[in-house]
Amino acid sequence: MCGIVAYLGKKQAYPILVKGLKRLEYRGYDSSGIALLNGKLNVYKKKGKVKELEDFVETQSKSGTIGIGHTRWATHGKPDDTNAHPHTSSSGRLTLVHNGIIENYALLKEALTKLGHTFKSETDTEVLVNLIEEVQNADGLSLEEAVRVALTKVVGAYAIVVLDKNEPDKLVAARQSSPLVVGIGEDEFYLASDGTPIVEYTKKVIYLKDEEIVTVKRNGDISIKSINNELQTPFIQELEMEIEALEKGGYDFFMLKEIHEQPKTIAECMRGRLNAEEGWVSLGGVQELKEKMLAAQRFIIVSCGTSWHSGLIGEYLFEDLVRIPVEVEYASEFRYRNPVITDKDIVIAISQSGETADTLAALKLAKEKGALTFGIVNVVGSSIARFTDAGCYIHVGPEIGVASTKAFTGQVTLLTMLALMFAKEKKTISDTYFNQLVTELDRIPEKVAEVLAINKQIEYIAGEIKDAQNALYLGRGYNFPVALEGALKLKEISYIHAEGYPAAEMKHGPIALIDENMPVVVIATNSSAYEKITSNIQEVKARRGIVIAIVEKGEQEISKIADYTIEIPATEEPLTPLIASIPLQLLSYHIAVMRGCNVDQPRNLAKSVTVE
Ligand code: G6P
Repeated sequence: MCGIVAYLGKKQAYPILVKGLKRLEYRGYDSSGIALLNGKLNVYKKKGKVKELEDFVETQSKSGTIGIGHTRWATHGKPDDTNAHPHTSSSGRLTLVHNGIIENYALLKEALTKLGHTFKSETDTEVLVNLIEEVQNADGLSLEEAVRVALTKVVGAYAIVVLDKNEPDKLVAARQSSPLVVGIGEDEFYLASDGTPIVEYTKKVIYLKDEEIVTVKRNGDISIKSINNELQTPFIQELEMEIEALEKGGYDFFMLKEIHEQPKTIAECMRGRLNAEEGWVSLGGVQELKEKMLAAQRFIIVSCGTSWHSGLIGEYLFEDLVRIPVEVEYASEFRYRNPVITDKDIVIAISQSGETADTLAALKLAKEKGALTFGIVNVVGSSIARFTDAGCYIHVGPEIGVASTKAFTGQVTLLTMLALMFAKEKKTISDTYFNQLVTELDRIPEKVAEVLAINKQIEYIAGEIKDAQNALYLGRGYNFPVALEGALKLKEISYIHAEGYPAAEMKHGPIALIDENMPVVVIATNSSAYEKITSNIQEVKARRGIVIAIVEKGEQEISKIADYTIEIPATEEPLTPLIASIPLQLLSYHIAVMRGCNVDQPRNLAKSVTVE
């Protein structure tokens, strides 16, 4: 949450910072700000989107070859101009941007107030910048040393960049549990929460590790120290990112672009890992730990949001195909209930961003208890990818829309390959069934493309139900997590209250809500429970609910009862979620657009949740 960007070099910093903030806006967008140093320090801050800041700065001085910027997702203090970052120390010497939470800020604030520091905002960040200044002044320390010593007094999570008015040729940055990437150009440096503001200038990057402090200088020097004052050797990597992936490419919203990319991203996820003709699945990330993973007594999947829904599908896949018990946990709950974890468990974290604070904390706990950890992550080089013992990337490219779409299908594809690989090794399914599933998985991208081709029909149905206040999503078996995900997509971006339920469980509560105003989306593709789900639809219709049924092509019965039918290509049951989730993504998208919502940046949400 919150995005930070900074520049030091020969170019004008302002355009780089503003462009960078727009790229980072998916991380938070309630206010933003920029500080530029050019003899004089200019700090501009505005409530609202980066565009509001840009309009405001239009008439102000924008010069300076050193600067820092921030786009905020409020934690401490309401979103307004004062609480927006950057924050400046009482004397006006230091200015800082921060992503994270300083947990002991209240105590620090009290002590600093006694020492004469004054505060304008309600933020924890303003406390931190004053703490660094206090340490700097009291002990006559250099900026980098003051940052290091101050951080030893801090409890919490942070990625920070600090600008010193008296040192216009230097920036100091640090991280603990919040991401920070350093981009290295020709005598210039970029610092950002991720690679998106950096990619068009340089592909040479360093991913800062926890408790590391980096100092970059105008003469091209860079040094990294640990919080314990040990010099670290910088590890320069190539940034795996293409600029085209960060542009809308003719689509109105990133979400729509990302929905339409899925035939390609699912294929990318499988590339080199599955061969239908030769009948094999092989995931490089598993090889090293394969024996241990095969010997595991239990898989525990930890994740949040949409990734938690993928995890549920993983549970169905592993139990169905590999016959291994699986538990799927909300990462945030898992760590606070003293879970039973042993060294015979494999803890699998699923995360698009690889930065979700709760998921990372759950993994830390699992490691402490001796479990082997495995990551299914999209963002290369992210914290979860680095923390886990092994893992696989889903390779779907940057996902910018806050509502996850292509990362979801990438995660499910990866989980399916993992289940198939283990099923083959453990001989828990027949070779014939294995080959059938592999062949069918290979065809999923074409089938997803077939669903995308009926976009207009889904848009029409969206128009019919767009004014609903509530919606119910029902599914059974593999389609139950699909129902949960469909409901989450709708509420996230259109603000219609929606619930996902196991179809049969509807009778134990939600049925009381059904009337002629209630759209009920039923994912009814399961061959194994076809009759049962048909009965559930009858139960909804008997109460005058509006049924939108997702059925297999050529289906005869349900289409007669449902108000609207969306036909999708038939597939093997364990692969249904990969196809059935597509019309639900489109349905939510169109409803949200028709309701005038900002689909890519829904209110109060953020793409990367780096606070617990
Ligand atoms: C936020 C995002 C969701 C995402 C969830 C988990 O809530 O808005 O789209 O599913 O975080 O994020 P992760 O990056 O761990 O998958």
